[in-house]
This record gives sequence, C-alpha cells and structure tokens, in this order.
Amino acid sequence: MGKLIFEKQVKGSNHFSLPKENLDVDIKIPEDLIRTEDLGLPELSEVEMVRHFTDLSHKAYGVDDGIYPLGSCTMKYNPKINEWAARLSGFSALHPYQAEETVQGALKLMYELDEMLCEICGMDNFSLQPAAGAHGELAGVMMIKAYHNKRQDFKRTKMMVPDSAHGTNPATANVVGYDVVEIKSNDLGLVDIDDLQAKMNDEIAGLMLTNPNTLGLFEEDIQEIADIVHTGGGLLYYDGANLNPIMGICRPGDMGFDVVHLNLHKTFSTPHGGGGPGSGAVGVKKHLAEFLPVPVVAYDEGTYCFNYDLPYSIGKVKSFYGNFGVFLKAYTYIKSLGRLGIIEAAQQAVLNANYLRHHLRENYYIPYDRLCKHEFVATAKYQMDANNVTTLDIAKRLIDYGYHPPTVYFPLIVKEAMMFEPVETESKARLDDLLAVLNTIAKEAEDNPELVKNAPYTATRRIDEVTAARKPIVKWEEG
Ligand SMILES: Cc1ncc(COP(=O)(O)O)c(C=O)c1O
Repeated sequence: MGKLIFEKQVKGSNHFSLPKENLDVDIKIPEDLIRTEDLGLPELSEVEMVRHFTDLSHKAYGVDDGIYPLGSCTMKYNPKINEWAARLSGFSALHPYQAEETVQGALKLMYELDEMLCEICGMDNFSLQPAAGAHGELAGVMMIKAYHNKRQDFKRTKMMVPDSAHGTNPATANVVGYDVVEIKSNDLGLVDIDDLQAKMNDEIAGLMLTNPNTLGLFEEDIQEIADIVHTGGGLLYYDGANLNPIMGICRPGDMGFDVVHLNLHKTFSTPHGGGGPGSGAVGVKKHLAEFLPVPVVAYDEGTYCFNYDLPYSIGKVKSFYGNFGVFLKAYTYIKSLGRLGIIEAAQQAVLNANYLRHHLRENYYIPYDRLCKHEFVATAKYQMDANNVTTLDIAKRLIDYGYHPPTVYFPLIVKEAMMFEPVETESKARLDDLLAVLNTIAKEAEDNPELVKNAPYTATRRIDEVTAARKPIVKWEEG
C-alpha cells in the first residue's frame, strides 16, 4: 500500500496562496473565535497534492474501468453525453433561490422528466425530490401511511415484505413506524401466495415488492398478489431498483402497484456508488397524488411553477427540489435512447444475464436455474462441498484478475450467494472474458484451494472483515 497523505507531507510546503494585498476588508474576529492551535492539515505542494489524488483515482474501480457485475445495483455505463448535458452552463450555473420566471427551462425539464417516468411506469404523478432509492422508499411508505391516516384507518400498523427483499425495505417500513411481517418465498423463489393470503388482514398497510425480485425472477402471480393486497385494504409498493429489465416492456402501474420509487442512478444511467448524489424519484397513482412531497412542478397557461398547495402532502423530504444534475442526466439518457432504445436496453440486459447464467452453471451451483431477468444468483456450493472454498474467497480472487466481484451473501435466503447483474452495456466478448476468469477460479478452487482462500494478492491483502467493520480506523494519527 502506498503512503498515506500525512506520511507524504514535507513540513513547510503548501499548495495555496492568498492575495494579501487585495484583501481590503476590516473584519474583527471575536477573541474567543480566533484559532490558537494549528489546523493540522497535511503540508504538501500543489504537485504532490495532485499526485496524491491521481494515485488514489488509479486505485478506484468503476464502470469506466471494466465490467461491474454487482447484483441489485445496475452498474451500467454512464454515457458521456449525460455529463455534457449536466455541465451546460444554462443549467449548471442556476441557483435554487432564483425566481421561477428565470428558471423556466429547468422547470420544464423536471416537468417533462416527471411525464416520461409516468409513461414508463404507468403512474400518474412523480416527485423527483428523494436523493436515493432508500429515500424514495421512505417518501413512498410515508405516503401509504398518510393515505390510511386520512381515511382514519389507524389499525394498519404492519407492512409486509418478502424474505428475499433488499434490506432497505424492512428498514424503511420500520423507520415509518410499521412492524414488518415477512412473507415467505416458495420453491421457485417467488412470493408464496398462500403465505401472503394467510398474513393479509386489516392490520396490514401494504406490501413492498420488487419485480423482478432480488433473485432476478419475475413475479408471475403479480396480479393475484395485487388483488389479495387491495381486497384486504392495503396498498402495493414497488421498489424500482429492478426496473431495468422491464422498462418499456411492462409497467408497475399496470401490474397494480400504487406507489413506486425508481433509482435514476441505476436504471437511467446516472453514475452511482460512493454515496451519491443519486435520485430516488417517487411516483404515485391518482389516489395518492395529494400526499406527494411539496413542491410539485406544475404547468399553467404557458408557465411552469412550483405548486406548494397540497394540504395533505407528507412535506418536503429534501432541501430545494432534489439532485437536479441527476435529473439532467436521466432526461438525456431517456431522450437519447428513445422508446425503442429503452426497450432494447431492457432486452439486452435480460439476454446478457441469461447468457452468463447458462455458461456458469457447469462450474457454479445456480439454485433457481431458470429464465431470469437482468440478474441471477449463483453460489459457491460445489466449491464449499469439495474444498471449503467460500463465496468470499471467489470474490477476493476475482480482484486479482482485475474484476469487480458480484454482490455476495445477498439475498439472504440463498447460502453462499453470488449475485450477478452483467447489464446491457457489456458485449458478448466481455462476458466471455468474465466467464473465462470465473471458470479458471473454479478450477483453481479444485486444484489449489489455498490459492483461492488466501486471495487477493494484488490490489490489496485479505483483511479481517469483522475487525474492519467493528473497529474501523477512519482517522490518521501520528506515530
Ligand atoms: C432492491 C433494492 N432496493 C432498494 C435499494 C436502495 O437504493 P439506494 O442504494 O439508492 O438507496 C437497492 C440498492 O442497492 C436495491 O438493490
């Protein structure tokens, strides 16, 4: 590992200079606010600073470096035209406090993005405010609660979530104040209808579901599921993190979902990872529109404006109006692909996932080995049974070959899970490269298990994951 920034410093160097002679201001800093101790910043010249950050950037891995098959994440390539649009000064130089009449273009863009997302999802209105998928879930489930409360239906204190769900679903339900009722998956990896029917009652506020689900399988009984929930007085929530393989082909709104969130930073190709900024746009059917976060963008007689007049709104969920740069990129992506391009992207994502699944099955156990959508789950069962080589070992060994590992140990219902989502932007040639490496690792696990168990050897070393999580050292300390 290279030196840390503080270890590189040369005392006395710095990388800034302030124009003292032009600072013609008379500021009196109160005595008690004057710093008496050194700030303790690293002392480096400009060139050393640039080298440090360039060095760090080489250590990072992203979709621009290579395939990034992280399941449940849709790490697709972010076309550079999106960045071009986001940098247009007419947009990037705007200030959120500007008067509405001076930002008509920005409001129009938000209004049209809302319309396009409604069309893609079969919903009636969207809010672009939430900053991430989990944040969209929060806004969506708060609206479900507001809906029941307005109807004086206070008995509904529980939210149903399948056992294969992403962790943010039960976490969100809990944060909004619901007790979580887990719904079992059946042998096919789909919602167990009998279990759902048995657990639906007048204490249930709704069901949070993603379709295709986190095993990459399409919930074929979705209409029956929707009927059960609606007949019991609940609402159906769509976690849109998995919209990628169905966009342009079928719509959550037509399946019976009442509220959806989308991850614009996944499906609609804006960059993600490292904590944001993202966008968890949230869409609703008409009967929930009055609960949307304020303001919503409205259009009246040739003018766009912010409408705050929603008396039952759950309120504001984000400062200003959301991450506007992300809207620009998503808008550009949808417009540049067009209707047919969106469908083709979804189809290619499904084809790529099935190609990888088909060619991996010889060396890796695939628990639900049937037609999947954009992702599928393989496991290290064969390697575990033979030589105690785990999913973690295989993931670490992939790093040695220069690949980002798949999602590991999720979904929780599959032992030693490795979740692959190759996405549509990878060619067959690149999928073949990945397959060759995975098959080589399977062979290594057989012939020389210790080699795989001690990986990685290149980018980093094997760390004690438990200590790293429990006792992280996040701050440099001298000596
Ligand atoms: C199925 C599913 N739901 C929700 C989320 C949460 O999205 P975000 O990470 O943007 O908060 C994820 C993220 O990986 C996901 O895979």
